[in-house]
Amino acid sequence: MKELRGKVAVVTGGAGGIGLAIGEAMLAQGMKVVLADVVEDALGAAVEGIGSKDVIGVRTDVTSFESLCETRDRAIERFGAVHVICNNAAVGAGAKGHAWEHHLNDWRWSLDVNVMGVINGMNAFVPNLIAQDEGHVVNTSSGNGAYTPIASSDIYPVTKAAVTTLTECLWGQLRELGSKVSASLLLPSSRTPGVLATGIWRAGANRPDRYRRGDPDDDAPRDALAEYRARAAAAGQEVVEAPLSEVADLCIEAIRDDVFWATYPMEHQTAKLRARTASQIERTPPDYLLEVNLMSASADERKRS
Ligand SMILES: NC(=O)c1ccc[n+]([C@@H]2O[C@H](COP(=O)([O-])OP(=O)(O)OC[C@H]3O[C@@H](n4cnc5c(N)ncnc54)[C@H](O)[C@@H]3O)[C@@H](O)[C@H]2O)c1
Repeated sequence: MKELRGKVAVVTGGAGGIGLAIGEAMLAQGMKVVLADVVEDALGAAVEGIGSKDVIGVRTDVTSFESLCETRDRAIERFGAVHVICNNAAVGAGAKGHAWEHHLNDWRWSLDVNVMGVINGMNAFVPNLIAQDEGHVVNTSSGNGAYTPIASSDIYPVTKAAVTTLTECLWGQLRELGSKVSASLLLPSSRTPGVLATGIWRAGANRPDRYRRGDPDDDAPRDALAEYRARAAAAGQEVVEAPLSEVADLCIEAIRDDVFWATYPMEHQTAKLRARTASQIERTPPDYLLEVNLMSASADERKRS
């Protein structure tokens, strides 16, 4: 979609973090934007903060197909059409212990938002995009899952690997159809080295009642960014923040120039990707999984949690 001016986008998870940055970048391109999020206070504050007639906020729960259909209809009612759907909402459940010890509701919540949320978004929007033969789907994945998983974070990369495969299949099927609609996979990253300090680091925040673990004390969110900073400090490293606008730039380029892998090349990720491919081809143990990653809790920390 070469011309973005006047086009309409719906961005899920748009009340904060990367989704809000994408919404702002789209407005700067002259697009009209629907920010869709389940957290109403944050959504209201985001829309008020932008203060433009070209942006509205619609409370949306991506775990519900019906909710996404209502959001699509509201967008069409207000702006006349939808051209871009960014399936960006996701959660980090802050699961405790090892993979075999996590509460099943941590799995259910993450799979429902991070995977079913993208499938619901695809089903709610793609038929309209195909019918008008114009549009773009941007699904947000993560290097953690799309390239190689951080083994200790298990649930999250499982969901992001699913989003990656789904988006590859979607791209292939759209091409097979000869449709002008296309798809991109956004792998949030930045030119400036640093962490993307967003709400996702408040692991377990805004957990809906149906996904509770049973004990209210157990459900308190964790500040995973503070934990990362502490681990890094102990290792003599400093954690700096990167601007979210750089992630949003990737999304804009992906739509305008039809880029599938929307990411900045990162030496470290590339090395891990090569190691994984070599391990698969040569059938050697996946040793690349053993690298210590300070972003995620160590085995000892997980044992104590
Ligand atoms: N921050 C990073 O380092 C990073 C890295 C790689 C990928 N990502 C991905 O980027 C995307 C955006 O995350 P972020 O980092 O901006 O975090 P964020 O927590 O700031 O944004 C996620 C948004 O999704 C919303 N949300 C949660 N459940 C929802 C639901 N059921 N329905 C609708 N909205 C819901 C939240 O309220 C929140 O506003 C996610 O897909 C995330 O996995 C983030």
